[in-house]
Amino acid sequence: MKKIAIFASGNGSNFEKIMENIQVGFLDQIEVTSLITDKREAFAIERARRFRLPVHIIEPNQFESKASYEAQILKTLQREEVEWVILAGYMRLIGPTLLNAYEGKILNIHPSLLPSFPGKNAIGQALEYGCRVSGATVHFVDSGMDTGKIIDQMSCPIYETDTIDTLQLRVQNLEYELYPRVIKKLIND
Ligand code: GRF
Repeated sequence: MKKIAIFASGNGSNFEKIMENIQVGFLDQIEVTSLITDKREAFAIERARRFRLPVHIIEPNQFESKASYEAQILKTLQREEVEWVILAGYMRLIGPTLLNAYEGKILNIHPSLLPSFPGKNAIGQALEYGCRVSGATVHFVDSGMDTGKIIDQMSCPIYETDTIDTLQLRVQNLEYELYPRVIKKLIND
């Protein structure tokens, strides 16, 4: 079995989809050791409980530096013998402490066709620019904001009538397919 940890700061729907893909046997070689979150109010925590999955709430403001915050996360990952880190709506840049320990083994998903629209509000920006296509990207994580090498993408149209909500829904549905697929290819098989 390949051990992974999932990091989430908020809603956690991508996290849940990965868990479901494990339950139905699509990801039959993956074991999620825990959910790691930086936000005690993250809804992802509630989802983790439903799967009886351990949750580590590690809040950066409890530490004197980013390095010591990440050192605490690293200790947790090492204790659980985690091999891969899967970011799913984790709203922080990964610093050198984690990057050095997990080089090439940290993945992220982003709701745009990178390199367009890294960072926050990717969906809103695509609409504002009048883009006619959007999509989702899974990429390796480096020290930049959504700048690591792209692993796979899926695209969808943007319609004249779209709002942030309708486009977000379309892109998230791509994400639910794309992330498990990449995890299967890269880690599971
Ligand atoms: C997703 O759109 C993902 O691409 C981005 O943050 C969002 C997280 O959504 N990184 P959720 O928490 O998985 O519902």
